[in-house]
Amino acid sequence: MTRHFLRDDDLSPAEQAEVLDLAAAMKKDRYGHRPFAGPQTVAVLFDKHSTRTRVSFAVGIGELGGLPLVIDAGSSQLGRGESVEDTARVLERQVAAIVWRTFGQDRIEAMASASSVPVVNALTDDFHPCQILADLQTVREQFGATAGLTLTYYGDGANNMAHSYLLGGATAGMNVRICAPEGYRPDPAILARAAEIAAETGAEVSVVGDPLEAAAGTHVVTTDTWVSMGQDGKDERVAALMPYQVNAAVLAAADPGAIVLHCLPAYRGLEISAEVLDGPQSRVWDEAENRLHAQKAVLHWLVTRTRETT
Ligand code: CP
Ligand code: NVA
Repeated sequence: MTRHFLRDDDLSPAEQAEVLDLAAAMKKDRYGHRPFAGPQTVAVLFDKHSTRTRVSFAVGIGELGGLPLVIDAGSSQLGRGESVEDTARVLERQVAAIVWRTFGQDRIEAMASASSVPVVNALTDDFHPCQILADLQTVREQFGATAGLTLTYYGDGANNMAHSYLLGGATAGMNVRICAPEGYRPDPAILARAAEIAAETGAEVSVVGDPLEAAAGTHVVTTDTWVSMGQDGKDERVAALMPYQVNAAVLAAADPGAIVLHCLPAYRGLEISAEVLDGPQSRVWDEAENRLHAQKAVLHWLVTRTRETT
């Protein structure tokens, strides 16, 4: 069976833990894992901007001994209307895995349904699962584990990061709180799926309106841009979300040992104050580095699992 990573719950709790263990091992011995030596090629396609994802996949595939083929999809025939499925049929004959940053989740699902090699979601409008693996690795490094901890996400609770925190955090046994105003709350179907996973892992998911109430007992304070790629209406969004800024008052209401995460790029003075992003509780640079290790681990894991079972 071809294993894909299109959304966070494509990995079971045990599988996610396995991938995170592997990520830690890969970080410890950064140049000692070369399963793609040969080299095997991995295609990395972008329909949207990227700094961290582009760099970490290219560097990581190289460190695995493989060859990264990074393509701006707009300059490929995909950008001129060739179908997603035909693209998959061409790529699968030549590469070990396909990584794609695109818009609708339906597009990456279509790619996966036509591909015999693993497809990895490098961000869609709905999910950003590779980022959450890196975040969970950062949480493990700080606290030694994830289960039983509480993570609170502030701001646009309807975006890809909020949805991935819900699914990926619950899978890791974390209590996930989304603190957002009406109109910016998670997709009810994703919230329900996260609650189902949380019931399995002994965690809880919730949506909270009051920022200080949401901070109580929180170990991980996190946020994301208020205007995701492809969205407009910045003024309206800023006005609605300003009370949900992560700032010193929010952090003071969290657990004293809390850490601050942000997937980046950050907009200081909007979703997060400069003081908090650049302050002593921030772990955002470790988080950005962990993209590399977490993605090397998940790529290796998916390719290995797929080969073992096909
Ligand atoms: N966090 C993240 O995915 O960053 P990029 O958009 O720079 O890849
Ligand atoms: N929610 C953001 C994440 C960027 C890494 C976006 O989709 O633009």
